[in-house]
Amino acid sequence: MIIAVDGPAASGKGTVARALAKHYRLPHLDTGLLYRAVAENVHRLDLDPTKEADAVAASNFDDSLLDDPVLRSDEAGQRASIVSAHPLIRAALLQRQRKFAHQEGGAVLDGRDIGTVIAPEADAKLFVKATPQIRARRRHAELKAQGSTLSFDKVLADIRARDQRDMGRDAAPLVMAADAGILDTSFLSIEAAVKRAIELVERQLRLKAANG
Ligand code: CDP
Repeated sequence: MIIAVDGPAASGKGTVARALAKHYRLPHLDTGLLYRAVAENVHRLDLDPTKEADAVAASNFDDSLLDDPVLRSDEAGQRASIVSAHPLIRAALLQRQRKFAHQEGGAVLDGRDIGTVIAPEADAKLFVKATPQIRARRRHAELKAQGSTLSFDKVLADIRARDQRDMGRDAAPLVMAADAGILDTSFLSIEAAVKRAIELVERQLRLKAANG
């Protein structure tokens, strides 16, 4: 069973995806980390993330980088959203994600284009969203806990900038799959969001079974 979880920054999609993976005993891939790793490599090699050729030159990262907490920083997220707009970067990461999705038994993947590009055939799809203010509040708290001193206003501005880049790009823009279930986490606790996510997945699985 493949479960696709998409949505904008700090919408709660990672938390929901991890909980679904635990509930259904499936492996989970946070695909944003792949773009963050490329972006971090671009930075370490002192290359320009806005140049596609520079990003491609940095696209072969060592897998140990995926565990580096530096990938979770606000800067890494911003740079990731710049490199992720390059079609050649998306192409370079495509097979790895498809292979993960299609492993035996299935998987849960979260990102921006899982239900639309990576696994349009997914058995269940969720689009997780929340208002920009609420997402900024969550991300601000997360970053603060990591020791960051970024102001709330800066975090909110960064989230809006990232939304605009992710939704406005030509290559696999952030857009809801037509057959995705919407999960608005704005006013839900984590427990309530996870409960609702499981209900939405179950409903899609039932529909799928009924349609043969
Ligand atoms: O955790 P957060 O939502 O802030 O970010 P992320 O999921 O780690 O993604 C970082 C950036 O990578 C996003 O702003 C997107 O530009 C890009 N991304 C993407 O283009 N496609 C994906 N499947 C996942 C992430």
